[in-house]
Amino acid sequence: MSETKKKVELRSAQWFGTQDKNGFMYRSWMKNQGIPDHEFQGKPIIGICNTWSELTPCNAHFRKLAEHVKRGILEAGGFPVEFPVFSNGESNLRPTAMLTRNLASMDVEESIRGNPMDAVVLLVGCDKTTPALLMGAASVDVPTIVVSGGPMLNGKLDGKSIGSGTAVWQLHEQVKAGEISMHKFLAAEAGHSRSAGTCNTMGTASTMACMAEALGTTLPHNAAIPAVDARRYVLAHMSGMRIVDMVWEDLRLSKILTKEAFENAIRVNAAIGGSTNAVIHLKAIAGRIGVDLELEDWTRIGRGQPTVVDLLPSGRFLMEEFYYAGGLPGVIRRMGEGGMLPHKDALTANGKTLWENNNDAPIYDDEVIRPLDKPLLKDGGICILRGNLAPRGAVLKPSAATPALMQHRGKAVVFENFEHYKERIMDPDLDVDANDILVMKNCGPKGYPGMAEVGNMGLPPKLLAAGVKDMVRISDARMSGTAYGTVVLHVAPEAMAGGPLGIVRDGDYITLDCAGGQLNLEISDEEMAQRQAARAEQKVEGAKSGYQQLYINHVLQADEGCDFDFLVGSRGSAVPKHSH
Ligand code: FES
Repeated sequence: MSETKKKVELRSAQWFGTQDKNGFMYRSWMKNQGIPDHEFQGKPIIGICNTWSELTPCNAHFRKLAEHVKRGILEAGGFPVEFPVFSNGESNLRPTAMLTRNLASMDVEESIRGNPMDAVVLLVGCDKTTPALLMGAASVDVPTIVVSGGPMLNGKLDGKSIGSGTAVWQLHEQVKAGEISMHKFLAAEAGHSRSAGTCNTMGTASTMACMAEALGTTLPHNAAIPAVDARRYVLAHMSGMRIVDMVWEDLRLSKILTKEAFENAIRVNAAIGGSTNAVIHLKAIAGRIGVDLELEDWTRIGRGQPTVVDLLPSGRFLMEEFYYAGGLPGVIRRMGEGGMLPHKDALTANGKTLWENNNDAPIYDDEVIRPLDKPLLKDGGICILRGNLAPRGAVLKPSAATPALMQHRGKAVVFENFEHYKERIMDPDLDVDANDILVMKNCGPKGYPGMAEVGNMGLPPKLLAAGVKDMVRISDARMSGTAYGTVVLHVAPEAMAGGPLGIVRDGDYITLDCAGGQLNLEISDEEMAQRQAARAEQKVEGAKSGYQQLYINHVLQADEGCDFDFLVGSRGSAVPKHSH
């Protein structure tokens, strides 16, 4: 043991390090698992925070992942303790996994702080599990390393690759337009999710895995190794080894999650064509660690960064090809060589800087990770919009949009909520044409509640049948990272919180100007004030008590990361009082 190692006082010693009544109790009950005395003699206790659940299929292989992390911890001289936390599964959880992201973060925070652990390994995968666990861990700030579960293998239909989620949106539109049979639709369902892992497109799960790597909270290559590739388990083993040294180095999250790290991540999000959901999640994580991140940072840092990763839904390939092409290290190398990585010296979990880790990363396929001068999109940064329709901001993902529609004026076709949309969009007599703008209200954090991924409203069937592929859509909802279209999202304040989105009427004209960052409703200030004054007080239907009511009462708006007002900030890792 080195001198440095001896100097670190283990947090877990405050449970297991005393020869008294308390030490007896903490050790004795743990011993019922067959743990010998020497395991309590000053070894770092490493928590493995596991989001395993059979109801979160993307994380259903995590017991095996945890076993490999444990091997690494044991090899490095630590003692692993695995514990479960709330698992947010995007595919099954209703009304939306976003509703429980903050709940999971509370579970994580209190589990870490209240238990004997010196550091934690976060096993994350499905969309919300990554931000939820990082948020919770950031609020405690012990040494932390993230291990993602990895993406699924490519989906297959008719011998060709299909991408998670993206195929669902595309094929559903084709069924509605009468272009493919129900038989083919169901064949796609069978070949869509062929292995363990998360969505294989550059959806929110892949984006957040890339964000975790770009932020420096993982070992290199964590984002893209397929879930079933043996190298994923090697990475888990190595992460287990590394976290033990992070204890001795006292390498806490707050040393890694700096403003510089978030700026790198914003830039990387543009380079990968990442999900709009990253805007909300990064803000929430930053808020927990005390970093001030504003919507304008996305414009200041992200704009001008070419999208070089050619993955669905913006491009052609999937995460499997991304890994074989060089993965995120290849992207970071390209960015750094092109002068597009703002902070090369940002510290990462292995103790090296981001640039030290990635400056010589090999790139095997220029089609998948394109050169900076042959990008998928010249300016891939998330477009932040403001104006009288979104005083506190809205977002649009340029790489998923139709360039011709990013500057658009159109007549509003308004839906009061998601149910109204579903009912009205099918009406063959709906007065709508391709130049109109679909506007949906009451799908924001409070309104849905939980801000579901319903912002990419499917187009009216009669327009689909006429060959229309895209229209401008505006809402206070989110959109799946696997979705696409000229979709304005996260309008803040949301309609349910009194935002101007709530006063838009059928036939109003709206202008969208992505280049100028503007989203405006063409009515006078007087008219706006009159309509606002005439609004009846709105309440979320059905919510009276329980977690849902807590959520409505305390959730912040999209520009603030949708965290709970009482959870923002770090509450530290001080050991709580004894329980007996
Ligand atoms: Fe879990 Fe997409 S549904 S990652």
